[in-house]
Amino acid sequence: MSADQSTEPGPSRGPKKGAPNAEKSGEPHIQVSALTKSFGDTKVLTDVNMKIGKGHIAVIIGGSGAGKTTLLRILIGLERATSGEVLISGQDITQMNDRQLNEMRRKFGMVFQYSALLDSMNVMDNVAFPMREHTKLKDKEIQAEVTKKLNSLGLKDIESRFPSQLSGGMRKRVALARALMLEPEIIVYDEPTSGLDPVTSRMVDDLIVETRKNFGVTSVIISHDMVGALQIADEIYLLSKGAIVAAGSPQELIAGDNELFHQFLKSSGAPEQVPPHEKPKQADAVESLPT
Ligand SMILES: Nc1ncnc2c1ncn2[C@@H]1O[C@H](COP(=O)(O)OP(=O)(O)OP(=O)(O)O)[C@@H](O)[C@H]1O
Ligand SMILES: [Mg+2]
Repeated sequence: MSADQSTEPGPSRGPKKGAPNAEKSGEPHIQVSALTKSFGDTKVLTDVNMKIGKGHIAVIIGGSGAGKTTLLRILIGLERATSGEVLISGQDITQMNDRQLNEMRRKFGMVFQYSALLDSMNVMDNVAFPMREHTKLKDKEIQAEVTKKLNSLGLKDIESRFPSQLSGGMRKRVALARALMLEPEIIVYDEPTSGLDPVTSRMVDDLIVETRKNFGVTSVIISHDMVGALQIADEIYLLSKGAIVAAGSPQELIAGDNELFHQFLKSSGAPEQVPPHEKPKQADAVESLPT
């Protein structure tokens, strides 16, 4: 697929067998159309188009300065688009006022680069934070939820530790637990594996796949890491100088002849073959979220 062709998954790429189907209702979970963003005279995003199905893992990959973080910030409503549409479950967030945007943002869980845990708070208080801010639950109930969430991510008896007493991989898990507290429909990860060694990076990738499996979330990941992208993505979008220059499943991109993709692949040192990865879980996953 060349840069000027459609960047959205084509008909053959539609919902996979067994893929949870937002498309049941005829629409993708996230749809970006003709999105542009300029800062003053500088155009940072040009005609970005994406379609991300419910429960899918989409990886947006690209070099430094390509516009990845800007795109992510627009998706979650932290930055306004200059033109174009961003539909979340069919609702155009570019048309929303600040109050509506705040409401919509509750659908998102965010795992920031470097985890962004508050160093002065222990794990319990970090993870409890969104629930204390946004719900009226009693603190005992919140604490029980925190422990449940931490345990479900393989973290036991670390509630009283401080972030500085955790390994990098543990910090990512704690950040993910925090992002999951309000049971989001969509989780957005900014560079989840940057700064981690290869083994820990693969553990974080596994965690992203497990989280999709257990919680049925749609995942959008910003990354430099082609090795991880090939392993976990349902769709990869390659962003270069603000434009999507390649899009498709890892299998399609590797088998295809998109030169920019193959250049990026080569420079990243990733193997030119796609390891098997778990497919999206059935559509009932979201409904079966623990309450
Ligand atoms: N608030 C802003 N005002 C002006 N220019 C900005 C602003 N935010 C980003 N840019 C510019 O937009 C371009 C894309 O930046 P962005 O942070 O989205 O890139 P990125 O792909 O996330 O890069 P990296 O991999 O280094 O994080 C850069 O040239 C940057 O200088
Ligand atoms: Mg960035």
